[in-house]
Amino acid sequence: MLSEIEALRETAGDEINKAGSLKDVQDLKVKYLGKKGLLTVKLRSMGAIPPEERRAFGSLINEAKSYLESAITSQENRFRSDELNQSLRIEKIDVTVPGRYIPAGQLHPSTKVLDELITIFTGLGFTVAEGPEVELDFYNFEALNMPKEHPARDMQDTFYVSDDVVLRTHTSSVQVRTMEKTPPPLRVIAPGKVYRCDADVSHIPMFHQLEGFMVDKNIRMSDLKGVLELFIHRVFGSNTSIRLRPSFFPFTEPSAEIDMSCVICGGKGCNVCSQTGWIEILGAGMINPRIYEMAGYAPDKYTGFAFGLGIERVAMLKYGIDDIRLFPENDRRFLAQF
Ligand code: DAH
Repeated sequence: MLSEIEALRETAGDEINKAGSLKDVQDLKVKYLGKKGLLTVKLRSMGAIPPEERRAFGSLINEAKSYLESAITSQENRFRSDELNQSLRIEKIDVTVPGRYIPAGQLHPSTKVLDELITIFTGLGFTVAEGPEVELDFYNFEALNMPKEHPARDMQDTFYVSDDVVLRTHTSSVQVRTMEKTPPPLRVIAPGKVYRCDADVSHIPMFHQLEGFMVDKNIRMSDLKGVLELFIHRVFGSNTSIRLRPSFFPFTEPSAEIDMSCVICGGKGCNVCSQTGWIEILGAGMINPRIYEMAGYAPDKYTGFAFGLGIERVAMLKYGIDDIRLFPENDRRFLAQF
């Protein structure tokens, strides 16, 4: 019996040492030390051994067991570390390889200017309103004191959808729409797309405007000037001056064109400002009482101002862009510059 154990220990030890894989080692563990393993079975047969031999048998078998266990553990460790080394070799990452370039977009200059203006005006308590781009002739023209056949309609080259429907030619269309829904006082900006049948270096058929209007008791032209001066200073720097020139718009009375000192030459005179030192930047005025009548406001109780500006025009002056047709092209080489 004792020699059987020794023989078993020897074969088992041999097999374990010659095992070719982790799986072989694990199978051998089951074969010899598992519940029904060859050595386990011997251990269980201890009862059948004559009492005087039990001690020797017991110690031999326990010694064989721990011998095999440690042989198994060391083989397992060997195969596990081989496996690890192999995967470290195969899955090696070269952290010095240059990264792959993933082109990222950036905000369009029109969007940047629009966002900047919205931040400035909401900071002054203006709220943002929107209106439809396919607009009734009524809101685009009639409600703004431009009845059908009014000569001022010729100032804007309109895309007509039908006799009564147009692509809005300006964001001023949002004025009466908003006033109809909101009683005074109000402070509103209305940014958005507008359409005109026109195309050259300074005109594209679809561009962006921002309309602003404020109605309350005792609003004066000086309020208009203060708000516009603040906005020009924020966008173009506080050295910029503005001036108001008399003009005409059917929806404001009095009306003005606002010029700012030329951002290119600082007012000395250059090509951009046609040697005048001034650049026209937006239209504005005191809201014509006819508009209040159209909107259902009491025309004798309230006064207010309105202004409208072209976003692309502001962007062109701010970033020094000399051709408005670059805006809708979306060429990344152009967009990446801002
Ligand atoms: N709607 C005018 C345009 O597109 C711009 C404008 C001028 C808006 C004067 C106004 C204003 O609100 O008061 O040419």
